[in-house]
Amino acid sequence: MVLLKNSRACEFGDFQTPDDLARRSLQVIKQLTIDPKSILEPTCGRGSFLLAAIAAFPTAQQSVGVEINKTHLEALQQQLIANGIDLSVQTLHADFFQMDWSEILSQLPEPILVIGNPPWVTNSMLGGLQSSNLPKKSNFQSLNGLDALTGKSNFDISEWMLLQHLEWFKQRTGIMAMLCKASVARKVLVYAWKHGYPTQSARIYKFDAMHYFRAAVDACLFVVEFGQHSFSKDCLVYDDLSDAQASHTLGYRNGVMIANIVVYDRWQHLHGSDEKCTWRSGIKHDCAKVMELEKRTDGYRNGNGITIALENIYIYPLFKSSDISNNRIVTCRKYLLVTQHLVGEDTAHIEYDAPITWRYLQDNADALAKRGSSIYQNRPPFSIFGVGDYTFRPWKVAISGFYKKVVFTAIRSVDDRPAVFDDTVYFLSCGSEDEAVFLTEILNSSIATEFLSSMIFWNDKRPITIDLLKRLNIAALATELGRENEYVACVQQIPEKRTKTSQKRRKISTSC
Ligand SMILES: C[S@@+](CC[C@H](N)C(=O)[O-])C[C@H]1O[C@@H](n2cnc3c(N)ncnc32)[C@H](O)[C@@H]1O
Repeated sequence: MVLLKNSRACEFGDFQTPDDLARRSLQVIKQLTIDPKSILEPTCGRGSFLLAAIAAFPTAQQSVGVEINKTHLEALQQQLIANGIDLSVQTLHADFFQMDWSEILSQLPEPILVIGNPPWVTNSMLGGLQSSNLPKKSNFQSLNGLDALTGKSNFDISEWMLLQHLEWFKQRTGIMAMLCKASVARKVLVYAWKHGYPTQSARIYKFDAMHYFRAAVDACLFVVEFGQHSFSKDCLVYDDLSDAQASHTLGYRNGVMIANIVVYDRWQHLHGSDEKCTWRSGIKHDCAKVMELEKRTDGYRNGNGITIALENIYIYPLFKSSDISNNRIVTCRKYLLVTQHLVGEDTAHIEYDAPITWRYLQDNADALAKRGSSIYQNRPPFSIFGVGDYTFRPWKVAISGFYKKVVFTAIRSVDDRPAVFDDTVYFLSCGSEDEAVFLTEILNSSIATEFLSSMIFWNDKRPITIDLLKRLNIAALATELGRENEYVACVQQIPEKRTKTSQKRRKISTSC
């Protein structure tokens, strides 16, 4: 929640649900044919959801509310007394992360309604607040490799809590109905579908979080029914809580979350990898002030305002995501110091190839050594990532990860120097203009656009990812468009991928 100033409220994601939203949510849930025998609100706050659920399902035999904030719980208890239902409702002052949930769950008759609005806060926000309101094991989705190293293991606390709810329903029947970010709902669904949790149905009802919480997020009421038969990997999406009809259905196909299964199913034969055309990300360097340069008459000016007459040998025209998005692709605003041709390549030879550049790097060695990400540890000094032979081919077909539309652009070299990109740009590298124009044309076809769009969640921060692009089999696309001959001619120009042995040979020869 972006507008919040109070740090305690932020720490506990403490934004109580307005009664009106809780009531509207219950109206939606009541329309589903469910008759809960028990109700559980795992972070109940002052109880708007718990009270609305008890009112909506008066035949439920047991109700439990758990909350960490004593004052909230006391307010709830007073409401229960005022409504004459205090004896039938158990209220527990406890920490979600310390609770023995199996003990609580074992006492609840089925079907169970687990309902509420868990805290909307991320572990990195909590880190900033030095809060311990966290699950003990924070890398809970076992992220590893580059994602874990680069800190992508940031997650929403509500996601962790919702994944706990999934555990509760492994052997039990019931329904989970939670307010959360739509992105959290999707992540939880992917997890449930991938790991075979007994989901019978799923629904996402969007609502206006700005209106109810003054929060600029894509939020929803997320409803999942669990049972031991008729499993489904589809989720109906309603554009509003009051909509009777779903606007579309998202689902899980071929191990991937699909944004629109009707469109995807039309083109799913295009789903597959294409060994000949490999998508790449631009260069990662994490030190823009030193590595990104502007051309001046007397040299290259860095982000610290210092101009130096660097040799041209390691300098390449740079197109950033914003350049690609705004079609500023003929001339470039910036240049990048590209210190390696391959990841891990020794950089010592720069001293002899380009002494001024070497001196410049030495002068800025502290800034480069301070780069936070551990991917730079135990690497040659001044290392970068996202480089290879493909970086230095003369044409590219590129798209920005921040694009809000599927549009690919052919990009030529600038002054005979191959264009390079930042790491939010994805591209295919090409040996010739013909190749680049052909690939751009077929990638911009309505078929490719439909196929890719069926898997894109446009409200994501970076809707277009390299994983998404890799799902399109470009050979199959060319065949679908009746352009397979051009495709064959095009891929014949692509050099064989460099093998590990040839890379090693090159490293030895460059360092000699
Ligand atoms: C977004 S508010 C929603 C409250 C309530 N569910 C509602 O719908 O109005 C989140 C609630 O979670 C509680 N909370 C945060 N961390 C908790 C924890 N570790 N254990 C239990 N409750 C917690 C907060 O105090 C707050 O009342």
